[in-house]
Order: sequence, then C-alpha cells, then structure tokens
Amino acid sequence: MILLALLACSGPDGDDTAAPVVGDPDYVRDPALDVDLTSASGGAESHNAGQACMHCHQAHGPGPGRFTLAGSAYRADGTPAAEGSIQAWTPMMDGGTLVAEVPIDALGNYYTTEALGLPDAVIQPVVLDATGAVVGQMPWPTESGSCNQCHTPVKRVLVP
Ligand code: HEC
Ligand code: HEC
Repeated sequence: MILLALLACSGPDGDDTAAPVVGDPDYVRDPALDVDLTSASGGAESHNAGQACMHCHQAHGPGPGRFTLAGSAYRADGTPAAEGSIQAWTPMMDGGTLVAEVPIDALGNYYTTEALGLPDAVIQPVVLDATGAVVGQMPWPTESGSCNQCHTPVKRVLVP
C-alpha cells in the first residue's frame, strides 16, 4: 500500500514546468487550424485509420478542423470499408430526426466539423452501405462523436 501511494504521488501531474501536451487546456493551438472539414466519398486526404481522431482534431490539439464526429469503418475481414456513410440521428426512441450524413472516404475514414450539438444533445449513429441501405445502428445514443474512442479493434464499426 505504501509503495502504491508513492507511485501515485510521482506522476506527471506533480510537474508544473512541463510543456502542455495535446489535450491540456493550456495547449496553444494555431487558430488557422480551425477550418471546416468533412470527408468526401472517394477522398483520400485522411490518415491514421483506427486511431481516435479527436485526440488531435480538437480545441487543444494539432489536427486541422475540430471534428465533431469522426472515426473509421471496416469490412468484416478487417480491411477498411472504402464506401458508404455514417448518419447521426436524434435518439430513435424520441422519433429520430436525421442531423447529419458523413461519407466514408477511400481509406475507410469519416469526419466532419459540422455542429451537431454534442455533448448537450446526443446522437444515434447509423451506418449505410454504398447503395444507401442501412447496415448498422448503434443501439443507443452517444454524447461523443469520437467513434474510434470506443470502437477499438474489439468492436469496430462495420460495413459488411
Ligand atoms: C496524433 C494526432 C492525429 C490523429 C490521431 C489524427 N490526426 Fe488527422 N491530422 C493530424 C495533423 C497534425 C494533421 C496535419 C498534418 C498532416 O497532414 O499530417 C492532420 C491532417 C488530417 C487531415 C487533412 C486535413 C486537411 O487540411 O486537408 C485529415 C482529413 C485528417 N487529418 C483526418 C483524420 C482522421 C479521420 C483521423 C482518425 C481516423 C485522424 N485524422 C487522426 C493529426 C492527427
Ligand atoms: C462512448 C462509447 C461509444 C462511442 C463514442 C460510439 N459508440 Fe457505437 N457502440 C458503443 C457500444 C458499447 C456499442 C455496443 C457494442 C456491442 O453490442 O457489443 C456500440 C454499438 C454500435 C453499433 C452497432 C454495432 C453492432 O454490431 O450492431 C454501431 C453501428 C455503432 N456503435 C456505430 C458508432 C458510430 C458510427 C460512432 C461514432 C459516430 C459510435 N458508434 C460512437 C459505444 C460507442
């Protein structure tokens, strides 16, 4: 128990002089990075498939655009889904209204900076294939559009 207490006290939080890292409230972000960005069908400007995009594309990070919804979609065999789209709906249990539709790009990634009202409002994600058919729906709404934060390799967002 004593050893654990010592370890807890020696963490990075105790160091006031360290430069702010990504995510710190005092991380200095270049205002020129605050551009509007939304993925396009067939586009290939994105990168880092599978990673939590909003770790960097956020108010205290280095990525262009403050993403409101972003992530990656996969085929059942684990390769990137290069087509289809992600929709954000108001909760289905309240009737469900379409809020936004974000295309999956050629690398399997989707992203937007469009205001979705998160986290005060919640959204319910729906997945469409290239023909526009619904192939997936999150069973409940989420306050976070940072899909890959939860959809890790254990449970990816799939476009069969
Ligand atoms: C580790 C930080 C980091 C992560 C994680 C990250 N990005 Fe980025 N992203 C950046 C930076 C920095 C740039 C600008 C420099 C560059 O292109 O590498 C960038 C550039 C981009 C661009 C090009 C923007 C433009 O101006 O055209 C897109 C699109 C993009 N990222 C999407 C994503 C998506 C989608 C994800 C998640 C699947 C993601 N990024 C994950 C840091 C990150
Ligand atoms: C806070 C965590 C979290 C976030 C953020 C999140 N999800 Fe989910 N999602 C879950 C969980 C948990 C499940 C249920 C997993 C299960 O059934 O095993 C789920 C289920 C789903 C399903 C149904 C999967 C299936 O096999 O039926 C889809 C589709 C989905 N999410 C899409 C998305 C998309 C797209 C986003 C981003 C807009 C997103 N989710 C954001 C946690 C999250």
